Amino acid sequence: MSSIITVDNLVKIYSPDIRAVDGISFAVEKGEIFGFLGPNGAGKSTAIKVLTTLLKKTSGSVKVKGFDLEADAREIRRIIGYASQEVGVDTDLTGMENIYLQCRFHHIPKDKARVKALELVKMVGLSDAANRRAGTYSGGMKRRLDLATALVSDPEILFLDEPTTGLDPQSRRAIWDYIRELNDKGTTIFLTTQYMEEADQLAHRLCIIDNGKIVAEGVPAKLKAQIGADLIKFRVVGDSDPAVTKKVVGIVSAIEGVKDARDCSKGGADCTEGVALYSENGSNLVPLIVRALDSAHLEIENLTLSKPSLDDVFIKFTGKQLRTELVKMPAKVGFRTRRR
Ligand SMILES: Nc1ncnc2c1ncn2[C@@H]1O[C@H](COP(=O)(O)OP(=O)(O)OP(=O)(O)O)[C@@H](O)[C@H]1O
Ligand SMILES: [Mg+2]
Repeated sequence: MSSIITVDNLVKIYSPDIRAVDGISFAVEKGEIFGFLGPNGAGKSTAIKVLTTLLKKTSGSVKVKGFDLEADAREIRRIIGYASQEVGVDTDLTGMENIYLQCRFHHIPKDKARVKALELVKMVGLSDAANRRAGTYSGGMKRRLDLATALVSDPEILFLDEPTTGLDPQSRRAIWDYIRELNDKGTTIFLTTQYMEEADQLAHRLCIIDNGKIVAEGVPAKLKAQIGADLIKFRVVGDSDPAVTKKVVGIVSAIEGVKDARDCSKGGADCTEGVALYSENGSNLVPLIVRALDSAHLEIENLTLSKPSLDDVFIKFTGKQLRTELVKMPAKVGFRTRRR
């Protein structure tokens, strides 16, 4: 693989002195799905707008397929697609008309534009609603239409700014499927998200961004492995008696591979009752724990094993928690975003 986007020490300062992007460097490989994961205000949209030539950088260097962001903006716009965080569909037009107009905007001849629009509404599952005004669409349908309009130019690189924020799980999954499908056909994808699950599901590699800075970078599985510990929590019958819990902690602490076994009723960030412990390989350890306690005539109930998540990675690097659920609706803006 070779890098299709290279970013070196990129800075974007909004006047007077908001350092929205504060010296980031990374490379996106051709053909991959690259994720930018970060909370509200991290600088994701600012970065994506700079990369798509919509916003002027303050300093640093960016190359997209070898083209310079400023000198070759036109060439860059020709090979990219962009779906902004604010859905940019025209609600007075039908789904078909939205896509058709976008085709015409890209100088695609009328007959080809019709074929293309039909193909794209089908791809995003909107054929049945194609001749309805987009104003009557649900949030998920509008997002799908928006994604379709970003695809009219068959972009080599597709930029998606929070493609599923505010959507229900079903619409979200549908969009994930389209993204994977496009990627399978060879499109390089750069996406931003606030959802660790989304980054985990889609991104081959990702950066975790906070306060305009990259705090961690890598393959999701490797980032999670850096945390280095599975969390095992369980209760035993009769553990309302502190003496029982104390005994359990003593027994499991003696098992090789068990780290930090403790009584949760005494407080802790990750549990409130029973016993918790960490291990590098939790799955191997569970049978050993069950056996050791069984020998002491202690009966386990409610054992859970959790693998580290990207949220844990984020907490480790920033001391803060990422969003884990769908609550925010996309911000509404008073103008339409024109896509390239
Ligand atoms: N046009 C602007 N003028 C001044 N400050 C801005 C502007 N746009 C964004 N900012 C600020 O820059 C920082 C980064 O904002 P940005 O929109 O890039 O974050 P984000 O990661 O996309 O957040 P979200 O997840 O909420 O979309 C924030 O502090 C924001 O308030
Ligand atoms: Mg944003």
